[in-house]
Amino acid sequence: MKDRLQKLGEEACGEMAAAGDLEELNEIRVRFLGKKGELTQILRGMGGLNAEERPRIGQVANEVRAVIEEALAVRSAVLKDMVKAQKLRSEGIDVTLPGTPRQRGGRHPLNVVLEEIQEIFLGLGYSIAEGPEIETDYYNFEALNLPKDHPARDMQDTFFISSEILLRTQTSPVQVRTMEKTAPALPVKIIAPGKVYRRDDDATHSPMFNQVEGLAVDRRITFSDLKGTLDLFAREMFGAKTKTRFRPSYFPFTEPSAEVDVSCVMCGGRGCRVCSHTGWLEILGSGMVHPRVLEVSGYNPEEVTGFAFGMGIERIAMLKYGIDDMRLLFENDLRFLQQF
Ligand code: DAH
Repeated sequence: MKDRLQKLGEEACGEMAAAGDLEELNEIRVRFLGKKGELTQILRGMGGLNAEERPRIGQVANEVRAVIEEALAVRSAVLKDMVKAQKLRSEGIDVTLPGTPRQRGGRHPLNVVLEEIQEIFLGLGYSIAEGPEIETDYYNFEALNLPKDHPARDMQDTFFISSEILLRTQTSPVQVRTMEKTAPALPVKIIAPGKVYRRDDDATHSPMFNQVEGLAVDRRITFSDLKGTLDLFAREMFGAKTKTRFRPSYFPFTEPSAEVDVSCVMCGGRGCRVCSHTGWLEILGSGMVHPRVLEVSGYNPEEVTGFAFGMGIERIAMLKYGIDDMRLLFENDLRFLQQF
C-alpha cells in the first residue's frame, strides 16, 4: 500500500509538472485529489488495514497529499506567470509604430491678412481699437458729416434696425468713439479692424465684410504723413517694389480726400486682366480728418490735424492671393482654405 501511495505521488507530481495550461492542471488535480480521485480511493481502502498499519499508512498518505499539493501550487504559479507574460506581450504597446496623424488646422486667409496689417501698424506705434457692429445713426453717419438725406449715404446701402439703429456700414465710427474717449490727450494713433454690413451681394461684394480703419491725430499732422504711412504700408504688404498712387476723391469725413491705388500685384504695373490693363489696383480710401469730425469728437481743429484711412480686408486678401470670387472666403470649403 505504501508503495502504491508513493508511486501515485510520483505520477501525480510528474503529470502536474508537465501540464501545459491551467485547465489541464485542474483536470489532473481532480483526477488525483478530487472526491473520486485516486488518492481518495486509496484512503477509502484503508478500512481493511489493521490498527497497527493504519496510522503509518495514514501518515504516508498525508505526506503524499502534501507533496502533490505542493507540486500543484508550484505548477499553478508557473502557469499563471506564463498567462500573465503572454497577456503583457499581446497587449503591449509598440512605441515605434507611427501614430494616427492629426489633421492640423490653419489660419483663415482673412486672419492671415488682418494679422499682417496689424503687425505693420503696431510696428508704427499704433494701437488697436474696437467699436460695436450694431451702431447708431449718429456714429455711423451724422458725426462723420453725413446728415440725414445726405446723398453720400446712397453709396452705403444700409441695414437699419430702427430709424436710429443700424448695422455699421463702415469702421469709420470707431474714429469718433475713440477720439471722444481720448480727448484732449494727444496723439491718437489707432487702427480699428472689424465687421461691417451693406446690402450688396455678388462676386466682389458680400453683405458682411471686414474693414480696417486707421486714424492719426496730433499737432502738425500733414498730408505728407498720410502719404508716407500708406506708401510704407503698401510696400510692407505687397512687396518692396510696390508703388502707390493717390487720386483725388470725396468722403464727407475727410478734406481733402484721396483714393489710394497700388501698382498691380499680378503684372507689376504693365497691365493685365486683374488690373483691367490699367496697371493699378485700388486698395483704400483716405484723407485729412474733416475739421467738423475733429470738433464733434472733442478736439480743436485750430490746434490739431489728423489723417484717416479705411480698407477692405477681403479686397486686400483677394489681391494678395489672386482670389477672384469673394464668396470663397466665406464658404469654408477646405479645398480652398488648405491652400493658405
Ligand atoms: N469708410 C469708407 C468706406 O467704407 C472708407 C474710408 C475712406 C475710411 C476715407 C476713411 C477715410 O477713414 O478717411 O467707404
